Amino acid sequence: MTNDQSNAMWGGRFAAGPDAIMEAINASIGFDKRLARQDIEGSRAHAAMLAQQGILTNKDADAIREGLLTVLSEIEGGNFQFSTALEDIHMNVEARLKEIVGEPAGRLHTARSRNDQVATDFKLWVRDQMDAAITGIEALMRALVTQADAGADWVMPGFTHLQTAQPVTWGHHMLAYVEMLGRDKSRFADARTRMNENPLGAAALAGTSFPIDRHMTATALGFDRPAANSLDAVSDRDFALDYLAAATICAMHLSRFAEELVIWSSAQFRFVTLSDRFSTGSSIMPQKKNPDAAELIRAKIGRILGANVALLMVMKGLPLTYSKDMQEDKEQVFDAADNLMLALAAMTGMVADMTANRATLEAAASSGFSTATDLADWLVRELDMPFRDAHHVTGTLVKLAEDQGIDLPDLTLTQMQAVHGKITESVFDVLGVHNSVASRMSYGGTAPAQVRAQVARWKEVLG
Ligand code: ARG
Repeated sequence: MTNDQSNAMWGGRFAAGPDAIMEAINASIGFDKRLARQDIEGSRAHAAMLAQQGILTNKDADAIREGLLTVLSEIEGGNFQFSTALEDIHMNVEARLKEIVGEPAGRLHTARSRNDQVATDFKLWVRDQMDAAITGIEALMRALVTQADAGADWVMPGFTHLQTAQPVTWGHHMLAYVEMLGRDKSRFADARTRMNENPLGAAALAGTSFPIDRHMTATALGFDRPAANSLDAVSDRDFALDYLAAATICAMHLSRFAEELVIWSSAQFRFVTLSDRFSTGSSIMPQKKNPDAAELIRAKIGRILGANVALLMVMKGLPLTYSKDMQEDKEQVFDAADNLMLALAAMTGMVADMTANRATLEAAASSGFSTATDLADWLVRELDMPFRDAHHVTGTLVKLAEDQGIDLPDLTLTQMQAVHGKITESVFDVLGVHNSVASRMSYGGTAPAQVRAQVARWKEVLG
């Protein structure tokens, strides 16, 4: 099955149009229409530069630049007829421009190629997504800092191996995620700095014989400089990979926190109550309130990492420069970006709305001999005992309490002295969970005073 018309763009060399299957596999308009704004922005900068350099007349450039605005408003207003036969967003825009402004439209493609055009469009799109991710991350960080501020001295169990380890503060736990997100933010910011070079003007691959000014288009499009090697400029997709790598790590952090929220909101834990706004009911079990948003956030890493792996696989082994394989870069990145932004927004809403159940947290912190390390530290500090011996004495006391079904602070002094004669009354000062957390004053420790200092620092950073 063939079309009877040869293709309008490269038809000069072709007698027959593409097979329908060829058209289906070749066309990217179904997804790259999302690059419309960037495509038009790039073309407007290109036209202005061509005019400045005397390659286009001012009259033609003005007509092109105006016409492109009309095309943009048609697309954004939903009044644009996208055509699969025209393959992609670049050709769709140019064809419509021709209908609007006539002959000058055909001059727009002077001194460029779709290879540098698509690299430029996609870079602009990814750059916007880096900015959006940074903004989204900051919003979540603020919600977490608010939680940390409110609960700087609320005591909860700290875990290793998901076994109660030592008491920590709610604020400290919230700020752990703020640290992670702070690194995520800086990864996006680093990537943005690294990628901010303009591919436009690299043309098909070798540069152009026209006297273009690549610095001018770089400035117009907010790039720091033109990309310095035309071969690299058209074949580089590192910027998308950098975005996906940063997004993957961020999604992993969100997944870890989501997992905690799923556990914490269960009937067995009850550490937090999620708001109705971010929970769903069960169609069959009326008592249920499910943390669906947290579960979906937990899962998003799958498709985001998937996109990262997929694009790496597309790029590996590609000889310089452009190959059509690279058209497979966009859908994955679009999907990853949409889902990262959704996960960030949902997590921000959930965190802002959730209630920490203070009494439950404190009761949980007090169980499981969580101040055993404080007891061992007391033996070292007050009795000058080597830590290994203190560990052994503490272990004996834990066993003693466990046998009686009580916690360490419930042992009597006499019982303790039966294990080690030099233990004094002051040991009880370190055994309560509040004493325990207050004593963790080392920099970055869980003491409420340390948490408050970090809250103040983050408030300053986040403005
Ligand atoms: N739709 C293409 C893409 O997304 C645009 C570049 C086409 N270049 C080419 N030489 N066929 O990669």
